[in-house]
Amino acid sequence: MIPYSRPGSLSTACARAPEVQPSSSRPLVPPLDLSVVYCPSSLDHVDALYEGDARGWIYAREGHPNADQLATKIAVLEGAASAFVCASGMAAITASLCSLLSQGDHMLMAAEVYGKTSVLVDRELARYGVGRELFDAARPANLAAMVGPRTRLIFVETLSNPLLRVTDMAQIARVAADAGIALVVDNTFAPLICRPLEHGAHLVIHSATKMIGGHSDLTLGVVAGSAPLIARARAVAAAMGLTGNPFESWLALRGMATLPVRMDRACASAGVLASRFEADPRVNRVWYPSLASHPDHELASAILSSGGSMLAIDLGDRERASRFMEGLPNIPFAPSLGDVRTTLSHPCSTSHRGQPPAHLERFGITPGVVRISVGLEDERDLWTEFAASLQALSPVR
Ligand SMILES: Cc1ncc(COP(=O)(O)O)c(C=O)c1O
Repeated sequence: MIPYSRPGSLSTACARAPEVQPSSSRPLVPPLDLSVVYCPSSLDHVDALYEGDARGWIYAREGHPNADQLATKIAVLEGAASAFVCASGMAAITASLCSLLSQGDHMLMAAEVYGKTSVLVDRELARYGVGRELFDAARPANLAAMVGPRTRLIFVETLSNPLLRVTDMAQIARVAADAGIALVVDNTFAPLICRPLEHGAHLVIHSATKMIGGHSDLTLGVVAGSAPLIARARAVAAAMGLTGNPFESWLALRGMATLPVRMDRACASAGVLASRFEADPRVNRVWYPSLASHPDHELASAILSSGGSMLAIDLGDRERASRFMEGLPNIPFAPSLGDVRTTLSHPCSTSHRGQPPAHLERFGITPGVVRISVGLEDERDLWTEFAASLQALSPVR
């Protein structure tokens, strides 16, 4: 028992926590620190904490041990000097963009970004006078000409959703460097297999809700980059209340321990499944970055160490996509990704719902497209189930 001198009354004893004596041995697993507030020993100590002369935490929205432990791992993962944790992937994107943009500024954004990122920029930041223009991240030929006097940043995703188009990171980074503006990369689909800072990015974002957490039981985001950029974005996140909480940071830290083995396994299985789908005459088209048929497979080999854990198949129309998904009782329709379990999504009904049909058609995101987030099951079992469901469809080629 912790040594404890009992104060006068029971209500006082209940209200006050016993003084915790640090253990002389260390826990193997990082403890979960739920305290909202940390108590300085004196006014000089408060000054030292705020000025950075003493190490420690004051208030959880501004930082806490579990977020800092997760941030340290993310910085290592991305080869960054610094990183911080946000309450969701969208919070990480909001903090990053708001740290770099002011009223009247302009940004260049890949045309095929995550739906809510478009909503954030086109509906919310637009209300604060931020302008944006869209460009094709896989073929950014005219990008330099789009940079104006108020352009402050370029925003891209490493791999687009759902067709896994690959961003031409080298060319875009060159434009950003020549113009002296920031390149911000959402690397959610490609943890470990792409390190955008090595290709000239300034800030890298992840929705840790996906592969990093890995178990669909937490919602978090992370941002990594240089110390000054991260200090600024972190200050914005603290002021806007966008920072992440201890329990989910702790869960994500645990998830990261198995991230490399999960990614290795899922990427290997995705590659096998992509080839099998491509050989099947009931499948119209397969989108997987390392297949020779993918329009960006050369770009993929320049920035990705593998084809990734996601693939998309085009089954021709919505009715065929629906029948295929309904024929897979053990592979759930779950509009997220990066789980230990393989999941399916129908972009036209979920992530891309409500977008103009002409826009979707232009990018090849048709009602026949089903996106597959490959998990950790044995890939032979997965193919047995996929092949059985395909049997119900007639050949298209
Ligand atoms: C590429 C990408 N970025 C950001 C997000 C947003 O992440 P969160 O749901 O954690 O806010 C998502 C969510 O699906 C995503 O797919």
